[in-house]
Amino acid sequence: MNYQIRTYGDKVLRQEAKRVGEVTDEIRRMADDMLETMYANDGIGLAAEQVGRCEAVCVVDISAAKLNDESNADAVKMPLVMIDPEIEETSGQCTAKEGCLSFPEIFVEVNRAETVCLAYTDTDGQRQHVEVDGLLARAVQHEIDHLNGVLLVDKMSMVEKVAVSGRLKRLKKRAKAAM
Ligand code: CO
Repeated sequence: MNYQIRTYGDKVLRQEAKRVGEVTDEIRRMADDMLETMYANDGIGLAAEQVGRCEAVCVVDISAAKLNDESNADAVKMPLVMIDPEIEETSGQCTAKEGCLSFPEIFVEVNRAETVCLAYTDTDGQRQHVEVDGLLARAVQHEIDHLNGVLLVDKMSMVEKVAVSGRLKRLKKRAKAAM
Protein backbone atom coordinates (compact mmCIF):
# COMPACT_ATOMS: atom_id res chain seq x y z
CA MET A 1 0.00 0.00 0.00
CA ASN A 2 1.19 3.43 -0.87
CA TYR A 3 0.77 6.09 1.81
CA GLN A 4 0.18 9.74 1.10
CA ILE A 5 3.14 11.82 2.23
CA ARG A 6 2.38 14.51 4.81
CA THR A 7 4.07 17.80 4.07
CA TYR A 8 5.11 20.79 6.14
CA GLY A 9 2.17 22.38 7.92
CA ASP A 10 0.56 19.03 8.74
CA LYS A 11 0.46 18.81 12.55
CA VAL A 12 1.29 15.10 12.64
CA LEU A 13 4.87 15.97 11.63
CA ARG A 14 5.36 17.61 15.03
CA GLN A 15 4.26 14.55 16.98
CA GLU A 16 6.76 12.60 18.98
CA ALA A 17 6.80 8.93 18.07
CA LYS A 18 5.84 6.26 20.59
CA ARG A 19 8.10 3.33 21.38
CA VAL A 20 7.05 0.17 19.55
CA GLY A 21 8.56 -2.50 21.81
CA GLU A 22 7.37 -5.81 20.42
CA VAL A 23 7.54 -6.08 16.62
CA THR A 24 4.20 -7.32 15.32
CA ASP A 25 3.02 -8.23 11.82
CA GLU A 26 1.23 -4.89 11.74
CA ILE A 27 4.52 -3.06 12.31
CA ARG A 28 6.21 -5.17 9.61
CA ARG A 29 3.40 -4.35 7.20
CA MET A 30 3.66 -0.67 8.03
CA ALA A 31 7.44 -0.76 7.39
CA ASP A 32 6.85 -2.46 4.01
CA ASP A 33 4.29 0.17 3.07
CA MET A 34 6.66 2.94 4.15
CA LEU A 35 9.40 1.49 1.93
CA GLU A 36 7.00 1.27 -1.00
CA THR A 37 5.98 4.89 -0.42
CA MET A 38 9.60 6.04 -0.12
CA TYR A 39 10.62 4.33 -3.39
CA ALA A 40 7.53 5.64 -5.21
CA ASN A 41 8.58 9.16 -4.25
CA ASP A 42 12.32 8.71 -4.99
CA GLY A 43 13.24 9.32 -1.36
CA ILE A 44 16.18 7.83 0.54
CA GLY A 45 14.44 7.90 3.93
CA LEU A 46 11.00 8.12 5.50
CA ALA A 47 9.70 8.31 9.06
CA ALA A 48 6.32 7.26 10.49
CA GLU A 49 5.03 10.83 11.00
CA GLN A 50 5.48 11.49 7.28
CA VAL A 51 2.78 8.92 6.57
CA GLY A 52 0.56 10.07 9.42
CA ARG A 53 1.60 7.44 11.97
CA CYS A 54 3.30 7.84 15.33
CA GLU A 55 5.07 4.55 15.97
CA ALA A 56 8.86 4.89 16.26
CA VAL A 57 9.62 3.40 12.85
CA CYS A 58 11.74 4.81 10.06
CA VAL A 59 13.24 3.44 6.87
CA VAL A 60 16.33 4.34 4.85
CA ASP A 61 17.76 3.12 1.56
CA ILE A 62 20.72 4.99 0.16
CA SER A 63 21.72 2.36 -2.43
CA ALA A 64 20.58 4.57 -5.32
CA ALA A 65 22.64 7.50 -4.05
CA LYS A 66 25.61 5.45 -2.87
CA LEU A 67 27.66 5.77 -6.05
CA ASN A 68 28.97 9.19 -5.08
CA ASP A 69 29.16 8.54 -1.38
CA GLU A 70 32.27 7.26 0.37
CA SER A 71 30.59 5.92 3.48
CA ASN A 72 30.74 2.45 4.99
CA ALA A 73 27.17 1.91 3.81
CA ASP A 74 28.14 -1.51 2.45
CA ALA A 75 28.42 -2.73 6.01
CA VAL A 76 24.69 -2.22 6.49
CA LYS A 77 22.22 -4.08 4.33
CA MET A 78 19.72 -1.87 2.49
CA PRO A 79 16.92 -1.15 2.95
CA LEU A 80 17.40 -0.37 6.60
CA VAL A 81 14.22 -0.60 8.70
CA MET A 82 14.75 0.92 12.14
CA ILE A 83 12.28 0.31 14.95
CA ASP A 84 12.80 2.23 18.18
CA PRO A 85 16.10 3.67 16.91
CA GLU A 86 18.47 5.45 19.24
CA ILE A 87 21.68 7.31 18.65
CA GLU A 88 24.11 6.11 21.28
CA GLU A 89 27.19 8.07 20.34
CA THR A 90 28.31 10.53 17.71
CA SER A 91 31.61 11.91 16.52
CA GLY A 92 32.83 14.50 14.05
CA GLN A 93 30.77 17.08 12.20
CA CYS A 94 30.01 17.76 8.58
CA THR A 95 27.73 19.97 6.58
CA ALA A 96 25.88 18.99 3.41
CA LYS A 97 22.73 19.83 1.46
CA GLU A 98 19.67 17.95 2.65
CA GLY A 99 16.16 17.52 1.34
CA CYS A 100 13.01 15.97 2.76
CA LEU A 101 9.89 14.47 1.16
CA SER A 102 7.83 16.64 3.53
CA PHE A 103 9.56 19.76 2.12
CA PRO A 104 9.38 19.26 -1.65
CA GLU A 105 11.88 21.29 -3.66
CA ILE A 106 13.61 22.70 -0.60
CA PHE A 107 17.26 21.89 0.03
CA VAL A 108 19.30 23.34 2.86
CA GLU A 109 22.76 22.97 4.34
CA VAL A 110 22.55 20.97 7.56
CA ASN A 111 25.32 20.32 10.03
CA ARG A 112 25.30 16.73 11.34
CA ALA A 113 27.54 14.33 13.18
CA GLU A 114 29.85 12.53 10.77
CA THR A 115 29.76 9.13 12.49
CA VAL A 116 26.90 7.70 14.50
CA CYS A 117 26.64 4.63 16.74
CA LEU A 118 23.09 3.50 16.23
CA ALA A 119 20.89 1.02 18.05
CA TYR A 120 17.57 -0.16 16.62
CA THR A 121 15.25 -3.15 16.56
CA ASP A 122 15.06 -4.92 13.18
CA THR A 123 11.92 -6.45 11.65
CA ASP A 124 12.77 -9.80 13.30
CA GLY A 125 12.63 -8.09 16.68
CA GLN A 126 16.40 -8.27 17.23
CA ARG A 127 18.21 -5.32 18.75
CA GLN A 128 21.07 -4.24 16.46
CA HIS A 129 24.05 -1.99 17.04
CA VAL A 130 25.91 -0.50 14.07
CA GLU A 131 28.30 2.32 13.36
CA VAL A 132 27.45 4.34 10.27
CA ASP A 133 28.98 7.36 8.57
CA GLY A 134 28.70 9.48 5.43
CA LEU A 135 25.33 9.79 3.72
CA LEU A 136 23.89 6.90 5.73
CA ALA A 137 24.71 8.61 9.03
CA ARG A 138 23.12 11.79 7.71
CA ALA A 139 19.94 9.99 6.60
CA VAL A 140 19.65 8.15 9.93
CA GLN A 141 19.96 11.40 11.91
CA HIS A 142 17.39 13.08 9.67
CA GLU A 143 14.86 10.26 10.17
CA ILE A 144 15.39 10.07 13.93
CA ASP A 145 14.77 13.83 14.04
CA HIS A 146 11.37 13.16 12.43
CA LEU A 147 10.53 10.66 15.17
CA ASN A 148 11.19 13.46 17.67
CA GLY A 149 9.05 15.94 15.73
CA VAL A 150 12.12 17.84 14.53
CA LEU A 151 11.97 19.05 10.93
CA LEU A 152 14.26 20.41 8.25
CA VAL A 153 12.86 23.90 8.87
CA ASP A 154 14.27 23.76 12.43
CA LYS A 155 17.74 23.24 11.01
CA MET A 156 17.64 26.28 8.72
CA SER A 157 19.54 29.44 9.44
CA MET A 158 17.58 32.71 9.42
CA VAL A 159 19.07 33.50 6.02
CA GLU A 160 17.94 30.16 4.59
CA LYS A 161 14.47 30.56 6.09
CA VAL A 162 14.10 33.91 4.40
CA ALA A 163 15.33 32.47 1.10
CA VAL A 164 12.68 29.72 1.08
CA SER A 165 9.92 31.58 2.94
CA GLY A 166 7.69 31.73 -0.16
CA ARG A 167 7.88 27.98 -0.67
CA LEU A 168 7.30 27.33 3.06
CA LYS A 169 4.21 29.54 3.00
CA ARG A 170 2.81 27.70 -0.03
CA LEU A 171 3.35 24.34 1.67
CA LYS A 172 1.59 25.52 4.83
CA LYS A 173 -1.34 26.84 2.81
CA ARG A 174 -1.66 23.53 0.95
CA ALA A 175 -1.57 21.54 4.21
CA LYS A 176 -4.27 23.75 5.70
CA ALA A 177 -6.48 23.28 2.64
CA ALA A 178 -6.06 19.50 2.91
CA MET A 179 -7.15 19.40 6.57
CO1 CO B 1 12.53 14.17 6.08
